[in-house]
Amino acid sequence: MGSTFLILGGSVIALLLAGYWAQHYLPPPKPKIVGIDLGTTYSCVGMYQAVTGQVDILETQDKHQCIPSVVAFSVSGVLVGYDAVAQSEHNPRNTVYDAKRFIGKVFDKEELLQAQKQYSFKLEADEYGMIRYVVSVNDTEKHLYPEEIGSILITFLKKAVERNLTAPVTKVVMSVPAEFDQQQRNYTGKAAELSGLEVFRIINEPTAAALAYGLHKHASLQNIMVVDLGGGTLDVSFLNVQGGMFLTQAMAGNNRLGGQDFNQRLQNYLEEMIMKRIGKPLTDKEDLQALRLHVEDLKLNLTQKTEAEISLELHSLHSTFSTIIKRTEFEEINADLFAKILVPIETVLKTIDMGIEDIDEIVLVGGSTRIPRVREIIGDYFKKRPNTAVDPELAVAIGVSIQAGIIGGMWPLTVSAVELPTQVKKIHVH
Ligand SMILES: *[C@@H]1O[C@H](CO)[C@@H](O)[C@H](O)[C@H]1NC(C)=O
Ligand SMILES: *[C@@H]1O[C@H](CO)[C@@H](O)[C@H](O)[C@H]1NC(C)=O
Ligand SMILES: *[C@@H]1O[C@H](CO)[C@@H](O)[C@H](O)[C@H]1NC(C)=O
Ligand SMILES: *[C@@H]1O[C@H](CO)[C@@H](O)[C@H](O)[C@H]1NC(C)=O
Repeated sequence: MGSTFLILGGSVIALLLAGYWAQHYLPPPKPKIVGIDLGTTYSCVGMYQAVTGQVDILETQDKHQCIPSVVAFSVSGVLVGYDAVAQSEHNPRNTVYDAKRFIGKVFDKEELLQAQKQYSFKLEADEYGMIRYVVSVNDTEKHLYPEEIGSILITFLKKAVERNLTAPVTKVVMSVPAEFDQQQRNYTGKAAELSGLEVFRIINEPTAAALAYGLHKHASLQNIMVVDLGGGTLDVSFLNVQGGMFLTQAMAGNNRLGGQDFNQRLQNYLEEMIMKRIGKPLTDKEDLQALRLHVEDLKLNLTQKTEAEISLELHSLHSTFSTIIKRTEFEEINADLFAKILVPIETVLKTIDMGIEDIDEIVLVGGSTRIPRVREIIGDYFKKRPNTAVDPELAVAIGVSIQAGIIGGMWPLTVSAVELPTQVKKIHVH
Protein backbone atom coordinates (compact mmCIF):
# COMPACT_ATOMS: atom_id res chain seq x y z
CA MET A 1 0.00 0.00 0.00
CA GLY A 2 2.59 2.45 1.13
CA SER A 3 4.84 2.01 -1.89
CA THR A 4 1.90 2.24 -4.36
CA PHE A 5 1.00 5.52 -2.75
CA LEU A 6 4.58 6.70 -3.11
CA ILE A 7 4.71 5.77 -6.80
CA LEU A 8 1.37 7.46 -7.47
CA GLY A 9 2.46 10.48 -5.51
CA GLY A 10 5.68 10.61 -7.51
CA SER A 11 3.90 10.56 -10.85
CA VAL A 12 1.50 13.28 -9.71
CA ILE A 13 4.45 15.44 -8.84
CA ALA A 14 6.04 14.65 -12.21
CA LEU A 15 2.83 15.68 -13.96
CA LEU A 16 2.61 18.87 -11.96
CA LEU A 17 6.20 19.66 -12.80
CA ALA A 18 5.60 18.95 -16.50
CA GLY A 19 2.61 21.28 -16.38
CA TYR A 20 4.69 23.93 -14.69
CA TRP A 21 7.47 23.60 -17.26
CA ALA A 22 4.98 23.63 -20.14
CA GLN A 23 3.38 26.77 -18.82
CA HIS A 24 6.64 28.60 -18.41
CA TYR A 25 8.84 27.38 -21.19
CA LEU A 26 6.66 26.21 -24.07
CA PRO A 27 5.47 28.82 -26.56
CA PRO A 28 1.95 30.02 -25.72
CA PRO A 29 -0.88 28.38 -27.71
CA LYS A 30 -1.20 29.79 -31.22
CA PRO A 31 -3.88 32.47 -31.43
CA LYS A 32 -6.84 31.41 -33.52
CA ILE A 33 -8.76 33.05 -36.31
CA VAL A 34 -12.46 32.57 -35.83
CA GLY A 35 -15.45 33.33 -37.99
CA ILE A 36 -18.30 35.32 -36.48
CA ASP A 37 -21.79 35.68 -37.84
CA LEU A 38 -23.23 38.68 -36.03
CA GLY A 39 -26.82 38.10 -37.05
CA THR A 40 -29.96 40.15 -36.67
CA THR A 41 -31.61 37.56 -34.47
CA TYR A 42 -28.84 35.07 -33.62
CA SER A 43 -25.06 35.27 -33.47
CA CYS A 44 -22.62 32.38 -33.72
CA VAL A 45 -18.91 31.73 -33.79
CA GLY A 46 -17.06 29.01 -35.61
CA MET A 47 -13.60 27.69 -36.09
CA TYR A 48 -11.97 25.69 -38.81
CA GLN A 49 -10.21 22.63 -37.42
CA ALA A 50 -7.02 22.04 -39.37
CA VAL A 51 -6.70 18.47 -38.12
CA THR A 52 -10.14 17.15 -38.99
CA GLY A 53 -10.95 19.61 -41.79
CA GLN A 54 -14.24 20.34 -40.11
CA VAL A 55 -15.81 23.55 -38.99
CA ASP A 56 -16.99 23.60 -35.40
CA ILE A 57 -19.71 26.02 -34.53
CA LEU A 58 -18.97 26.20 -30.86
CA GLU A 59 -21.40 25.89 -28.03
CA THR A 60 -21.42 29.27 -26.39
CA GLN A 61 -24.27 29.37 -23.90
CA ASP A 62 -25.49 26.31 -22.05
CA LYS A 63 -25.76 23.77 -24.85
CA HIS A 64 -26.65 26.35 -27.50
CA GLN A 65 -24.39 27.08 -30.42
CA CYS A 66 -25.90 30.40 -31.41
CA ILE A 67 -27.10 33.02 -28.97
CA PRO A 68 -29.98 35.43 -29.50
CA SER A 69 -28.54 38.82 -30.52
CA VAL A 70 -30.05 40.37 -27.42
CA VAL A 71 -28.39 42.35 -24.64
CA ALA A 72 -30.12 43.44 -21.45
CA PHE A 73 -29.13 45.88 -18.76
CA SER A 74 -30.53 44.94 -15.39
CA VAL A 75 -29.97 45.38 -11.71
CA SER A 76 -28.03 42.14 -11.80
CA GLY A 77 -25.70 43.39 -14.53
CA VAL A 78 -25.35 43.09 -18.30
CA LEU A 79 -27.04 39.97 -19.63
CA VAL A 80 -26.44 38.43 -23.04
CA GLY A 81 -28.25 36.01 -25.33
CA TYR A 82 -30.63 33.54 -23.68
CA ASP A 83 -30.14 35.18 -20.30
CA ALA A 84 -31.24 38.49 -21.79
CA VAL A 85 -34.25 36.91 -23.47
CA ALA A 86 -35.29 35.13 -20.27
CA GLN A 87 -35.80 38.40 -18.42
CA SER A 88 -37.11 40.45 -21.37
CA GLU A 89 -40.75 40.22 -20.28
CA HIS A 90 -39.95 41.98 -17.04
CA ASN A 91 -37.42 44.44 -18.38
CA PRO A 92 -38.57 45.40 -21.88
CA ARG A 93 -37.20 48.96 -21.81
CA ASN A 94 -33.65 47.82 -21.12
CA THR A 95 -33.58 44.71 -23.29
CA VAL A 96 -32.18 45.70 -26.66
CA TYR A 97 -31.90 43.88 -29.96
CA ASP A 98 -31.82 44.50 -33.72
CA ALA A 99 -28.47 46.28 -33.45
CA LYS A 100 -27.70 45.10 -36.98
CA ARG A 101 -30.58 47.13 -38.33
CA PHE A 102 -29.02 50.32 -36.97
CA ILE A 103 -25.31 49.69 -37.19
CA GLY A 104 -23.37 52.25 -39.24
CA LYS A 105 -26.55 53.78 -40.59
CA VAL A 106 -27.70 57.38 -40.54
CA PHE A 107 -31.33 58.00 -39.66
CA ASP A 108 -33.33 61.17 -40.23
CA LYS A 109 -36.00 62.31 -37.77
CA GLU A 110 -38.85 60.62 -39.59
CA GLU A 111 -37.00 57.30 -39.92
CA LEU A 112 -36.16 57.41 -36.23
CA LEU A 113 -39.80 58.04 -35.35
CA GLN A 114 -40.92 55.12 -37.49
CA ALA A 115 -38.28 52.84 -36.00
CA GLN A 116 -39.13 53.88 -32.43
CA LYS A 117 -42.74 52.73 -32.89
CA GLN A 118 -41.56 49.14 -33.27
CA TYR A 119 -39.58 48.86 -30.07
CA SER A 120 -40.19 48.95 -26.36
CA PHE A 121 -36.68 50.35 -25.73
CA LYS A 122 -35.76 53.94 -26.36
CA LEU A 123 -33.80 55.10 -29.38
CA GLU A 124 -32.17 58.43 -30.03
CA ALA A 125 -30.05 59.87 -32.80
CA ASP A 126 -26.75 61.59 -32.17
CA GLU A 127 -25.74 64.80 -33.97
CA TYR A 128 -24.78 62.79 -37.08
CA GLY A 129 -28.00 60.77 -37.13
CA MET A 130 -26.33 57.64 -35.79
CA ILE A 131 -28.66 55.67 -33.54
CA ARG A 132 -28.10 55.10 -29.86
CA TYR A 133 -30.01 52.91 -27.45
CA VAL A 134 -30.99 54.65 -24.25
CA VAL A 135 -31.22 52.34 -21.25
CA SER A 136 -31.76 53.22 -17.65
CA VAL A 137 -30.55 50.98 -14.87
CA ASN A 138 -29.60 51.65 -11.27
CA ASP A 139 -30.81 55.24 -11.73
CA THR A 140 -28.25 55.94 -14.41
CA GLU A 141 -28.86 56.41 -18.09
CA LYS A 142 -26.57 54.75 -20.60
CA HIS A 143 -26.39 55.66 -24.27
CA LEU A 144 -25.05 52.84 -26.40
CA TYR A 145 -24.31 52.67 -30.10
CA PRO A 146 -25.28 49.54 -32.04
CA GLU A 147 -21.61 48.64 -32.48
CA GLU A 148 -21.24 48.67 -28.69
CA ILE A 149 -24.15 46.25 -28.40
CA GLY A 150 -22.52 44.20 -31.16
CA SER A 151 -19.28 44.25 -29.23
CA ILE A 152 -20.96 42.93 -26.06
CA LEU A 153 -22.24 39.99 -28.13
CA ILE A 154 -18.88 39.44 -29.81
CA THR A 155 -17.01 39.58 -26.49
CA PHE A 156 -19.38 36.96 -25.12
CA LEU A 157 -18.70 34.67 -28.11
CA LYS A 158 -14.96 35.33 -27.96
CA LYS A 159 -14.81 34.39 -24.28
CA ALA A 160 -16.76 31.21 -24.94
CA VAL A 161 -14.25 30.19 -27.62
CA GLU A 162 -11.32 31.04 -25.38
CA ARG A 163 -12.77 28.87 -22.63
CA ASN A 164 -13.20 26.06 -25.13
CA LEU A 165 -9.73 26.36 -26.67
CA THR A 166 -7.85 27.62 -23.66
CA ALA A 167 -6.09 29.84 -26.18
CA PRO A 168 -6.55 33.50 -26.94
CA VAL A 169 -8.67 34.56 -29.91
CA THR A 170 -7.23 37.63 -31.59
CA LYS A 171 -8.36 37.58 -35.21
CA VAL A 172 -11.71 37.31 -36.86
CA VAL A 173 -13.47 37.10 -40.21
CA MET A 174 -16.92 38.66 -40.11
CA SER A 175 -19.91 38.47 -42.41
CA VAL A 176 -22.36 41.20 -43.38
CA PRO A 177 -25.42 41.37 -45.60
CA ALA A 178 -24.35 41.84 -49.22
CA GLU A 179 -26.24 45.12 -49.35
CA PHE A 180 -24.22 46.72 -46.51
CA ASP A 181 -22.43 49.85 -47.66
CA GLN A 182 -18.89 50.79 -46.70
CA GLN A 183 -19.96 52.55 -43.51
CA GLN A 184 -22.11 49.65 -42.29
CA ARG A 185 -19.20 47.29 -42.96
CA ASN A 186 -16.85 49.58 -41.15
CA TYR A 187 -19.04 49.79 -38.04
CA THR A 188 -19.53 46.02 -38.04
CA GLY A 189 -15.76 45.74 -38.04
CA LYS A 190 -15.63 48.31 -35.28
CA ALA A 191 -17.84 46.10 -33.10
CA ALA A 192 -15.19 43.37 -33.35
CA GLU A 193 -12.37 45.84 -32.76
CA LEU A 194 -14.09 47.07 -29.60
CA SER A 195 -13.84 43.45 -28.44
CA GLY A 196 -10.10 43.49 -29.02
CA LEU A 197 -10.19 41.51 -32.25
CA GLU A 198 -8.31 42.25 -35.43
CA VAL A 199 -10.68 42.04 -38.38
CA PHE A 200 -9.05 40.07 -41.18
CA ARG A 201 -11.79 40.30 -43.69
CA ILE A 202 -15.48 41.06 -43.98
CA ILE A 203 -17.36 38.89 -46.47
CA ASN A 204 -20.91 38.89 -47.75
CA GLU A 205 -23.35 36.50 -46.13
CA PRO A 206 -24.49 34.88 -49.42
CA THR A 207 -20.86 34.20 -50.27
CA ALA A 208 -20.37 32.66 -46.83
CA ALA A 209 -23.40 30.43 -47.38
CA ALA A 210 -22.02 29.28 -50.73
CA LEU A 211 -18.69 28.52 -49.03
CA ALA A 212 -20.52 26.41 -46.47
CA TYR A 213 -21.71 24.20 -49.33
CA GLY A 214 -18.19 23.96 -50.72
CA LEU A 215 -19.22 25.72 -53.93
CA HIS A 216 -15.82 27.48 -54.06
CA LYS A 217 -14.26 24.13 -54.96
CA HIS A 218 -15.96 23.84 -58.35
CA ALA A 219 -13.56 24.56 -61.21
CA SER A 220 -16.28 25.41 -63.73
CA LEU A 221 -18.50 28.48 -63.64
CA GLN A 222 -21.53 28.05 -61.42
CA ASN A 223 -24.64 30.20 -61.17
CA ILE A 224 -25.85 30.28 -57.62
CA MET A 225 -29.05 31.67 -56.17
CA VAL A 226 -28.92 32.28 -52.44
CA VAL A 227 -32.26 32.73 -50.72
CA ASP A 228 -31.94 34.04 -47.17
CA LEU A 229 -35.17 34.19 -45.20
CA GLY A 230 -34.48 35.21 -41.64
CA GLY A 231 -36.44 36.70 -38.79
CA GLY A 232 -37.41 39.92 -40.50
CA THR A 233 -35.91 40.08 -43.95
CA LEU A 234 -35.75 38.18 -47.20
CA ASP A 235 -32.63 38.55 -49.33
CA VAL A 236 -32.05 36.95 -52.66
CA SER A 237 -28.61 37.11 -54.28
CA PHE A 238 -27.29 35.78 -57.50
CA LEU A 239 -23.60 34.87 -57.47
CA ASN A 240 -21.14 33.60 -60.00
CA VAL A 241 -18.38 31.44 -58.69
CA GLN A 242 -15.48 30.05 -60.61
CA GLY A 243 -12.24 28.70 -59.24
CA GLY A 244 -12.88 30.14 -55.79
CA MET A 245 -13.72 33.64 -57.06
CA PHE A 246 -17.11 34.97 -56.08
CA LEU A 247 -18.94 37.78 -57.77
CA THR A 248 -22.35 39.07 -56.74
CA GLN A 249 -24.30 39.89 -59.91
CA ALA A 250 -27.71 40.84 -58.58
CA MET A 251 -29.61 41.29 -55.34
CA ALA A 252 -33.21 41.84 -54.44
CA GLY A 253 -35.00 41.66 -51.17
CA ASN A 254 -37.93 42.46 -49.00
CA ASN A 255 -37.05 44.14 -45.70
CA ARG A 256 -40.43 43.36 -44.26
CA LEU A 257 -40.77 39.65 -44.68
CA GLY A 258 -39.53 36.96 -42.36
CA GLY A 259 -40.18 34.72 -39.40
CA GLN A 260 -41.50 37.56 -37.26
CA ASP A 261 -44.30 38.12 -39.77
CA PHE A 262 -45.26 34.46 -39.68
CA ASN A 263 -45.23 34.65 -35.88
CA GLN A 264 -47.39 37.77 -35.96
CA ARG A 265 -50.00 35.99 -38.09
CA LEU A 266 -50.02 33.12 -35.64
CA GLN A 267 -50.21 35.56 -32.73
CA ASN A 268 -53.22 37.37 -34.25
CA TYR A 269 -54.88 34.06 -35.02
CA LEU A 270 -54.49 32.90 -31.42
CA GLU A 271 -55.53 36.24 -29.95
CA GLU A 272 -58.75 36.03 -31.97
CA MET A 273 -59.24 32.50 -30.71
CA ILE A 274 -58.73 33.64 -27.11
CA MET A 275 -61.17 36.49 -27.65
CA LYS A 276 -63.80 34.07 -28.96
CA ARG A 277 -63.27 31.56 -26.16
CA ILE A 278 -62.99 33.86 -23.21
CA GLY A 279 -64.99 36.80 -24.51
CA LYS A 280 -62.35 39.34 -23.54
CA PRO A 281 -59.43 40.65 -25.55
CA LEU A 282 -55.94 39.91 -24.31
CA THR A 283 -54.34 43.25 -23.49
CA ASP A 284 -52.02 42.51 -20.60
CA LYS A 285 -48.44 43.17 -21.67
CA GLU A 286 -46.89 40.25 -19.83
CA ASP A 287 -49.51 37.78 -21.06
CA LEU A 288 -49.05 39.03 -24.62
CA GLN A 289 -45.31 38.60 -24.31
CA ALA A 290 -45.77 35.09 -22.87
CA LEU A 291 -48.04 34.23 -25.79
CA ARG A 292 -45.38 35.57 -28.18
CA LEU A 293 -42.77 33.20 -26.72
CA HIS A 294 -45.17 30.26 -27.03
CA VAL A 295 -45.97 31.25 -30.60
CA GLU A 296 -42.30 31.00 -31.56
CA ASP A 297 -42.17 27.51 -29.99
CA LEU A 298 -45.35 26.50 -31.75
CA LYS A 299 -43.97 27.62 -35.11
CA LEU A 300 -40.80 25.60 -34.57
CA ASN A 301 -42.82 22.57 -33.54
CA LEU A 302 -44.95 22.87 -36.67
CA THR A 303 -41.78 22.58 -38.73
CA GLN A 304 -41.18 19.15 -37.19
CA LYS A 305 -44.72 17.92 -36.87
CA THR A 306 -47.95 18.29 -38.79
CA GLU A 307 -49.74 19.49 -35.67
CA ALA A 308 -48.67 20.86 -32.31
CA GLU A 309 -50.20 21.92 -29.06
CA ILE A 310 -49.92 25.28 -27.41
CA SER A 311 -50.87 25.68 -23.79
CA LEU A 312 -50.31 28.60 -21.47
CA GLU A 313 -51.57 30.36 -18.40
CA LEU A 314 -53.18 33.76 -19.06
CA HIS A 315 -52.87 35.43 -15.68
CA SER A 316 -54.79 38.58 -16.58
CA LEU A 317 -57.78 36.54 -17.73
CA HIS A 318 -57.48 33.98 -14.90
CA SER A 319 -57.54 31.12 -17.34
CA THR A 320 -55.52 28.52 -19.17
CA PHE A 321 -55.56 28.60 -22.91
CA SER A 322 -54.71 25.52 -24.89
CA THR A 323 -55.35 24.37 -28.41
CA ILE A 324 -53.94 22.22 -31.17
CA ILE A 325 -52.81 23.95 -34.34
CA LYS A 326 -52.30 22.06 -37.61
CA ARG A 327 -49.41 22.77 -39.94
CA THR A 328 -51.92 23.36 -42.74
CA GLU A 329 -53.60 26.08 -40.63
CA PHE A 330 -50.23 27.78 -40.20
CA GLU A 331 -49.65 27.55 -43.95
CA GLU A 332 -53.08 28.98 -44.74
CA ILE A 333 -52.81 32.01 -42.49
CA ASN A 334 -49.41 32.75 -44.06
CA ALA A 335 -50.18 31.76 -47.67
CA ASP A 336 -49.98 35.32 -49.08
CA LEU A 337 -46.73 35.98 -47.20
CA PHE A 338 -45.15 32.74 -48.42
CA ALA A 339 -46.12 33.64 -52.00
CA LYS A 340 -44.19 36.90 -51.64
CA ILE A 341 -40.96 34.92 -51.37
CA LEU A 342 -40.95 34.45 -55.13
CA VAL A 343 -41.13 38.19 -55.91
CA PRO A 344 -37.46 39.07 -55.33
CA ILE A 345 -36.40 35.77 -56.95
CA GLU A 346 -38.24 36.79 -60.11
CA THR A 347 -36.75 40.27 -59.89
CA VAL A 348 -33.23 38.87 -59.71
CA LEU A 349 -33.77 36.51 -62.66
CA LYS A 350 -35.14 39.41 -64.70
CA THR A 351 -32.17 41.63 -63.78
CA ILE A 352 -29.65 39.08 -64.99
CA ASP A 353 -31.84 38.01 -67.88
CA MET A 354 -31.79 34.34 -66.97
CA GLY A 355 -34.32 31.58 -66.58
CA ILE A 356 -34.68 28.97 -63.88
CA GLU A 357 -32.80 26.48 -66.10
CA ASP A 358 -29.65 28.64 -65.87
CA ILE A 359 -29.39 28.26 -62.11
CA ASP A 360 -26.98 25.53 -61.04
CA GLU A 361 -27.39 25.68 -57.29
CA ILE A 362 -29.97 27.07 -54.92
CA VAL A 363 -28.75 27.70 -51.40
CA LEU A 364 -31.16 28.28 -48.54
CA VAL A 365 -30.11 30.35 -45.56
CA GLY A 366 -31.93 31.62 -42.48
CA GLY A 367 -34.08 29.82 -39.95
CA SER A 368 -37.32 30.48 -41.80
CA THR A 369 -36.17 28.34 -44.74
CA ARG A 370 -36.69 25.35 -42.43
CA ILE A 371 -40.43 25.81 -42.83
CA PRO A 372 -41.47 22.90 -45.08
CA ARG A 373 -43.85 25.02 -47.15
CA VAL A 374 -41.12 27.59 -47.83
CA ARG A 375 -38.77 24.91 -49.18
CA GLU A 376 -41.58 23.48 -51.26
CA ILE A 377 -42.47 26.84 -52.85
CA ILE A 378 -38.85 27.52 -53.78
CA GLY A 379 -38.20 23.97 -55.04
CA ASP A 380 -41.38 23.99 -57.13
CA TYR A 381 -40.46 27.32 -58.67
CA PHE A 382 -36.97 26.28 -59.76
CA LYS A 383 -38.06 22.70 -60.54
CA LYS A 384 -34.95 21.71 -58.60
CA ARG A 385 -34.20 20.75 -55.05
CA PRO A 386 -32.55 23.50 -53.07
CA ASN A 387 -29.40 22.71 -51.06
CA THR A 388 -30.52 22.05 -47.53
CA ALA A 389 -27.84 19.73 -46.15
CA VAL A 390 -26.28 22.47 -44.05
CA ASP A 391 -28.29 23.86 -41.16
CA PRO A 392 -29.67 27.11 -42.66
CA GLU A 393 -29.09 28.96 -39.40
CA LEU A 394 -25.43 27.91 -39.29
CA ALA A 395 -24.58 28.19 -43.00
CA VAL A 396 -23.24 31.74 -42.75
CA ALA A 397 -21.24 31.01 -39.60
CA ILE A 398 -19.80 27.86 -41.19
CA GLY A 399 -18.89 29.73 -44.37
CA VAL A 400 -17.27 32.62 -42.56
CA SER A 401 -15.24 30.12 -40.52
CA ILE A 402 -14.13 28.35 -43.70
CA GLN A 403 -12.98 31.72 -44.98
CA ALA A 404 -11.09 32.23 -41.72
CA GLY A 405 -9.48 28.81 -42.18
CA ILE A 406 -8.47 29.61 -45.75
CA ILE A 407 -6.97 32.96 -44.73
CA GLY A 408 -5.22 31.37 -41.79
CA GLY A 409 -3.56 28.94 -44.19
CA MET A 410 -5.06 25.94 -42.42
CA TRP A 411 -6.64 24.82 -45.66
CA PRO A 412 -4.89 22.90 -48.43
CA LEU A 413 -3.22 25.56 -50.54
CA THR A 414 -5.08 24.57 -53.69
CA VAL A 415 -8.33 25.85 -52.22
CA SER A 416 -8.97 29.55 -52.31
CA ALA A 417 -11.91 31.84 -51.90
CA VAL A 418 -11.87 35.47 -52.87
CA GLU A 419 -14.75 37.81 -53.18
CA LEU A 420 -14.57 40.35 -55.96
CA PRO A 421 -15.92 43.79 -55.13
CA THR A 422 -19.23 44.57 -56.74
CA GLN A 423 -21.17 47.72 -57.52
CA VAL A 424 -24.49 45.89 -57.62
CA LYS A 425 -27.29 47.56 -55.68
CA LYS A 426 -30.08 45.70 -53.98
CA ILE A 427 -33.53 46.13 -55.48
CA HIS A 428 -36.23 46.44 -52.84
CA VAL A 429 -39.54 44.75 -53.47
CA HIS A 430 -42.65 44.22 -51.37
C1 LIG B 1 -15.37 22.73 -27.44
O1 LIG B 1 -16.40 22.79 -28.43
C2 LIG B 1 -16.64 21.56 -29.11
C3 LIG B 1 -17.68 21.83 -30.19
O2 LIG B 1 -18.78 22.55 -29.69
C4 LIG B 1 -17.09 20.51 -28.11
O3 LIG B 1 -17.26 19.30 -28.77
C5 LIG B 1 -16.04 20.39 -27.01
O4 LIG B 1 -16.51 19.51 -26.05
C6 LIG B 1 -15.74 21.74 -26.37
N1 LIG B 1 -14.68 21.60 -25.42
C7 LIG B 1 -14.68 22.24 -24.27
C8 LIG B 1 -13.46 22.03 -23.41
O5 LIG B 1 -15.58 22.99 -23.93
C1 LIG C 1 -26.70 47.68 -11.09
O1 LIG C 1 -26.20 47.61 -9.78
C2 LIG C 1 -25.86 46.29 -9.31
C3 LIG C 1 -25.49 46.37 -7.84
O2 LIG C 1 -24.48 47.33 -7.65
C4 LIG C 1 -24.72 45.77 -10.18
O3 LIG C 1 -24.37 44.46 -9.79
C5 LIG C 1 -25.17 45.76 -11.65
O4 LIG C 1 -24.08 45.34 -12.49
C6 LIG C 1 -25.67 47.13 -12.08
N1 LIG C 1 -26.23 47.02 -13.42
C7 LIG C 1 -25.64 47.52 -14.53
C8 LIG C 1 -26.33 47.30 -15.83
O5 LIG C 1 -24.61 48.17 -14.49
C1 LIG D 1 -13.27 52.27 -40.49
O1 LIG D 1 -12.91 53.49 -41.15
C2 LIG D 1 -11.90 54.23 -40.48
C3 LIG D 1 -11.74 55.55 -41.23
O2 LIG D 1 -11.79 55.38 -42.59
C4 LIG D 1 -10.61 53.40 -40.44
O3 LIG D 1 -9.62 54.10 -39.76
C5 LIG D 1 -10.92 52.08 -39.72
O4 LIG D 1 -9.77 51.25 -39.77
C6 LIG D 1 -12.07 51.34 -40.37
N1 LIG D 1 -12.36 50.18 -39.54
C7 LIG D 1 -12.68 49.00 -40.05
C8 LIG D 1 -12.91 47.91 -39.07
O5 LIG D 1 -12.80 48.78 -41.23
C1 LIG E 1 -43.10 22.20 -28.61
O1 LIG E 1 -42.60 20.86 -28.46
C2 LIG E 1 -41.92 20.63 -27.24
C3 LIG E 1 -41.32 19.24 -27.29
O2 LIG E 1 -42.25 18.30 -27.80
C4 LIG E 1 -42.88 20.83 -26.08
O3 LIG E 1 -42.21 20.66 -24.86
C5 LIG E 1 -43.45 22.24 -26.16
O4 LIG E 1 -44.43 22.41 -25.15
C6 LIG E 1 -44.08 22.50 -27.51
N1 LIG E 1 -44.51 23.88 -27.54
C7 LIG E 1 -45.51 24.35 -28.29
C8 LIG E 1 -45.90 25.77 -28.11
O5 LIG E 1 -46.04 23.67 -29.13
